[in-house]
Amino acid sequence: MNDSQKKPIGVFDSGYGGLTVLKEIVKQLPEYDYVYLGDNARSPYGSRSYETVYQYTLECVEQLFNMGCELVILACNTASAKALRTIQQKDLPRIAPDKRVLGVIRPTTEIVGKYTKTGHVGVLGTMGTVTSNSYPIEIEKFYPQLIVHQEACPMWVSLVENNEFESDGADFFIKKNLDSLLIKDKEIDTIILGCTHYPLLINKIKKHLPENITILSQGEIVGKGLTDYLSRHPEIEKKCSKGGKIEFYTTDSPENFNTAASIFFGKTLKSKHLAL
Ligand code: DGL
Repeated sequence: MNDSQKKPIGVFDSGYGGLTVLKEIVKQLPEYDYVYLGDNARSPYGSRSYETVYQYTLECVEQLFNMGCELVILACNTASAKALRTIQQKDLPRIAPDKRVLGVIRPTTEIVGKYTKTGHVGVLGTMGTVTSNSYPIEIEKFYPQLIVHQEACPMWVSLVENNEFESDGADFFIKKNLDSLLIKDKEIDTIILGCTHYPLLINKIKKHLPENITILSQGEIVGKGLTDYLSRHPEIEKKCSKGGKIEFYTTDSPENFNTAASIFFGKTLKSKHLAL
């Protein structure tokens, strides 16, 4: 395959949140090209039904395939929880048997057992991620002995999106959900931040958790998982272009995206509009 036939890695999220994942992926794998697509026009996904999240995610994955991406990462936990399996098993063989779609849940559940000493793990996520039970189901495959409790934190995404993540008001909801998780199981010593937005709340989360609890943020883990995946799958790796370029697309207003996105990505960026 010559260089002009190689294509960027697609990264999809319901909106801005996946930029926290992309940021870490780029840190670890700066040589590749990336296309980021945020479905801001239809976000948040966290409170939507299985069918809706699946349809929206599939449409966005198809868009990234149409842009040439051979590999797409669902950086969104809700999409990974509700749509990934169906896309991998039902849609890919039909629409693009040689392309690949990966999520953020598996790399996290693969390593969580290395962190816990008590064997009790907590998962924080959107209502959709929690009710799908994807985390407990996936953790059981790798570490059947672990005890997993979850807590849906429906206000946390709004706190971040409304730029209230460092306000005093945020403390109320963060403490409320963390207390509720720890009441379910006092032996929890490792907590997965199972949502793209939660790394922005890390200072507040630390403030309201006992110091002995390990907090697992996904960006770095997903970056390592992707590095490992590309080394194990040279047939996919050789199709990925290497120019260190990133393009950003949003299904809503690029101006709004550019303003809010810098909070998630850590630097300013310029997006383009993509109509679905
Ligand atoms: N990206 C979503 C997730 O990681 C959070 C935002 C949303 O609800 O759309 O679950």
